[in-house]
Amino acid sequence: MGSRIIGTGRGLPSASLSNQDLERLLDTSDEWIRSRTGIGSRYLMRTGESLLDIAHEASRRALDKAGMKPGELDAIIAGTVSSEYAFPSFACQVQRMLGVTSIPAFDVAAACSGFVFALSVADNSMRAGVWKKVLVIGADALSTMVDWGDRRTAVLFGDGAGAAVMINEAGPRGVINTLLRSAGEAWELLSLRATGIRASADSELRRDPVDTLKMRGPELFKIAVKSMADITRQVAEQAGVSLNDVSIIIPHQANIRILNAVAERLGIPTEKVFINLDRYGNTSAASVPIALDEALEAGRFGDNDLVLLNACGGGLTWGASLLRW
Ligand code: UT7
Repeated sequence: MGSRIIGTGRGLPSASLSNQDLERLLDTSDEWIRSRTGIGSRYLMRTGESLLDIAHEASRRALDKAGMKPGELDAIIAGTVSSEYAFPSFACQVQRMLGVTSIPAFDVAAACSGFVFALSVADNSMRAGVWKKVLVIGADALSTMVDWGDRRTAVLFGDGAGAAVMINEAGPRGVINTLLRSAGEAWELLSLRATGIRASADSELRRDPVDTLKMRGPELFKIAVKSMADITRQVAEQAGVSLNDVSIIIPHQANIRILNAVAERLGIPTEKVFINLDRYGNTSAASVPIALDEALEAGRFGDNDLVLLNACGGGLTWGASLLRW
């Protein structure tokens, strides 16, 4: 028994902010942001917008594509670090919006790797025969938690949500193998203190700088390249699959230079790596499911193709999942 994704969806804040817009807010330039990160614009939550609404929209779309009613679900798992409440979980709040009762709903906190971690939890439970139909969400709004005076971090993040509906299924299609890793000893490289204040780019409210997202970018960069390349190689090797046979890699979108370096290490042509961070920035746990949904919509892969998801983020955490679509 295994699990297969049968529907995907995405949701985004209404407004996008370009690098040129950011030039008016910060001492930065379109040239620096594009050349150092590959980002051109990003969707940012505005005052009054809710990540829950965005995740709800992504979930409804995934359910529609799966041809499934919310009431058929056996579980909801959300990969997120952006819930406005310590409890209830983000997943419980989405559960209420979907009007579903009596099923488990919970969050997985693995920062940018959140969707891959949540997918693995869902897959393992379905392999064990615990659930048959699971909604997996990746949602984050890190733009509301950065220091808007710090150009080193404020330009990097975008907000959004992606969702996937998975079913329990025997046969060759679906999740083939997933590997997860964490390195708690390096958590200071990327961290965010838990606090209730959300301060979007357009709000007057500002977080106390000690409570904003902290990143040691250059150190993290090197670890991200090595960990994403290693885990990608391992997940395929362990499954007895050659990376040459993988149709598309859908990575966490943190930095184009990371993605190019990973592809180079693995000897993979960059055309096989799906990129959308030019329009979204780093959307943390939302980046893999948003990219998956877009790549599918764009016809970049189809039935029976091998698809590889990978991510790396705060924790540190990283992981990869190999799927036969
Ligand atoms: O999603 C989880 C995983 N995330 C990652 O793995 C992120 C990994 N790290 C990175 O992607 C990159 O390290 C960053 C994009 C965060 C930074 O790029 P970098 O090339 O490593 O820049 P840097 O931090 O070494 O800064 C180089 C220079 C500095 O100037 P000085 O001190 O050399 O004069 C910065 O002040 O670039 C300057 N700088 C900027 N200039 C204009 C940093 N940010 C900006 C900016 N605009 N936004």
